[in-house]
Amino acid sequence: MPRDGAPATDPQSDPANPPEPYPSRADAAASFAAHVNRGKVRALEAIGVDVVMGDRQGARFRDAYDGRSYWNCHCNGGVFNLGHRNPAVVEAVRRGLDRVDVGNHHLISGHRAHLAEQLSASTDDLLPFAVFTPSGTESVDLALRLARAHTGRTGIVAATGAYHGLSGFALAASDPRWFDPFGPVPEGFAHVPYNDAEAIGNAIGPRTAAVILESIPATLGFPAPAPGYLEAVAAAARDAGALLILDEVQTGLGRTGTRWYYEQQGVEPDMLITGKGLGGGVYPISAVLLRPELEDFFDANPFAYVSTFGGAEIGCIAASSVLEQIAEPGFLGRVEELGLRFERGFEGMPFTLRRYGLTMGLAFDEEGGGVMAAKKLIDAGVFAVYAEHDHSVTQFKPPLIVTEAEVDEIVAAVGDALG
Ligand SMILES: Cc1ncc(COP(=O)(O)O)c(C=O)c1O
Repeated sequence: MPRDGAPATDPQSDPANPPEPYPSRADAAASFAAHVNRGKVRALEAIGVDVVMGDRQGARFRDAYDGRSYWNCHCNGGVFNLGHRNPAVVEAVRRGLDRVDVGNHHLISGHRAHLAEQLSASTDDLLPFAVFTPSGTESVDLALRLARAHTGRTGIVAATGAYHGLSGFALAASDPRWFDPFGPVPEGFAHVPYNDAEAIGNAIGPRTAAVILESIPATLGFPAPAPGYLEAVAAAARDAGALLILDEVQTGLGRTGTRWYYEQQGVEPDMLITGKGLGGGVYPISAVLLRPELEDFFDANPFAYVSTFGGAEIGCIAASSVLEQIAEPGFLGRVEELGLRFERGFEGMPFTLRRYGLTMGLAFDEEGGGVMAAKKLIDAGVFAVYAEHDHSVTQFKPPLIVTEAEVDEIVAAVGDALG
């Protein structure tokens, strides 16, 4: 590890690190185009982004070929909430691998039970049951199916501009641009603009099984829920006998300065989706957290949801370490303090800051401003990504474990890039 704390400069020459499979960036890109996705290679080339992720640690990663260091201020939407290769998570998984593997998804598992207990505690036992899946998409899909089974209704109300994943019911709940190429989605899905209480109130009716919303829609560039909006949605759903599902894949696990963002909004979901950072960036694991009455369905149908890798034991070990770290005294307060430090540092910069803890959107006046800013930031060594459904915004999500000095360095780099 070099003295500046960034990962090793030249992973190819470090015998302790497995080398990249290809000798050059061009070879890696050519093979990727030939065997994985040539459209992606072309699209990235078109915007001049040819980064290949190499060594990574904490808030930074290096390009695998030129050794260039990047602050990770996207974190895959929260996968790297606790930084790359978080030492406690890595240690827990290393020790876990001496004894377990994915386990058997049909059997009782103490690791799965322990993680569900921790998740329950994180909601103050509002949502005491957890169903584990390998991805956010599958969790959303399951939550929507469960809502239909529980209510005996088929209607699902979601937001335009939402992103809940790209298959099954999750795809049908996402913005129509994602499912349009594939023909009709299952019946019963309606989309209304986010933050329009009247529109969603009108869409919710006696046939509505559930309303699903991201607490703060990520791909819309993290617009703040209007005061009282989520409360109004919760009340409209409750009055109609429908369930409220909050997708906290991007906003949960301490990202906004509380364990879950709903805690700041005076609403209590019937189901909550978590994923991404749950696996500490090292093992894919996601969960649907349920109120007790929703678990009733599984009394009669205990095998209604099975997934070979859902709740894999080694993933549970990673996730338990993540939850332990978030529950440490002072952790959440520090997230808000670091957010404030960014806020002060960004004063006078040419964007409006949307900020909730360390979940941030840099909103520019001009359409496309977020796309241009993301490119400039990447060129300046700050990895950030524009909001897919609002190109005037750059999503800005540094890891929750950045140090104060790192915040200052990132702010300086952003100032150089955008100032
Ligand atoms: C808010 C939200 N929900 C659901 C998903 C889907 O999660 P996954 O990619 O793990 O399937 C994502 C992924 O980006 C997301 O951002």
